[in-house]
Amino acid sequence: MGPTNSSGSDVSADSSAPYGNGPRSAVNSEAAQNPAKVRIHHLQQAKFDGKKFAMLTAYEQYAAEIFDAAGIEVLLVGDSASNNVLGNETSIPVTVDELLPLCRAVARSTKRALVVADLPFGSYQVSAEQAVSTGVRFLKEGLAHAVKIEGGSYYAPTVRAMVQAGIPVMAHIGFTPQSEHALGGYRIQGRGDDAQRVIDDAVALADAGAFCVLMEMVPAETAAAVDAAVRVPTVGIGAGKETTGQVLVWQDMAGLRGGRMAKFVRQYADLRRTLSDAATAYGNDVRSGRFPGPEHSF
Ligand code: KIV
Repeated sequence: MGPTNSSGSDVSADSSAPYGNGPRSAVNSEAAQNPAKVRIHHLQQAKFDGKKFAMLTAYEQYAAEIFDAAGIEVLLVGDSASNNVLGNETSIPVTVDELLPLCRAVARSTKRALVVADLPFGSYQVSAEQAVSTGVRFLKEGLAHAVKIEGGSYYAPTVRAMVQAGIPVMAHIGFTPQSEHALGGYRIQGRGDDAQRVIDDAVALADAGAFCVLMEMVPAETAAAVDAAVRVPTVGIGAGKETTGQVLVWQDMAGLRGGRMAKFVRQYADLRRTLSDAATAYGNDVRSGRFPGPEHSF
């Protein structure tokens, strides 16, 4: 038996494979000790090997550091920063200039994960040239390793132009939040007769050179058909369990966001309560004179 992680399980067996294979502690994980970089070909290999990888959003230094050390293979600097960091209602208002510094912070705080940046609404839809120049900014100024764009087969020429320019592209299909108004709200895509459209989108985008297809709010059966139809890895959010990877917005995963959760979210912590309790205790200590104590004073 090789070296063990903090939970006592053998971690040597998969030491060459950067995609995850089981529980890891954030501090003592193999990932923290062996920060081989996750590359696109590792995600591809995961699909060939029938293995899974995990993806989370990240928008700043500490979350990025923690998720990276915990072995999360892909960090997404999502345009969901708009409604999870910047206080907007949707992802639509966020701009390139707002997202770039967040992306830089995540990339600088990451040793191992693949960092993917969302191109925000309006920054790639106008033309393939616009998409290439925005993509270049995210790689040069945002230090991202790849970018993600939303949209179906219509965007295949855009993906082709970006890939030819050396920009790795993840394609986001199914429900695409930037098109919320065009789609008539948060609606499941690819149900029944509509499944073939989603499959065709995935095939066109993968053929154009997208290295991965992400599907949001697609029936599990349709997502499985997409995964079978493309050679590239797939990632799901509300798309069942047959995709190669899964992604969640980290504030949903860790219970920082309040309010109603989407059906596809599993909450792994209650950070909202933890932070609220900490802030309440701190406020009470300050008001009552219990903080600072002598040990905090010079
Ligand atoms: O911006 C984002 O968080 C996303 C996920 C929903 C995949 O695109």
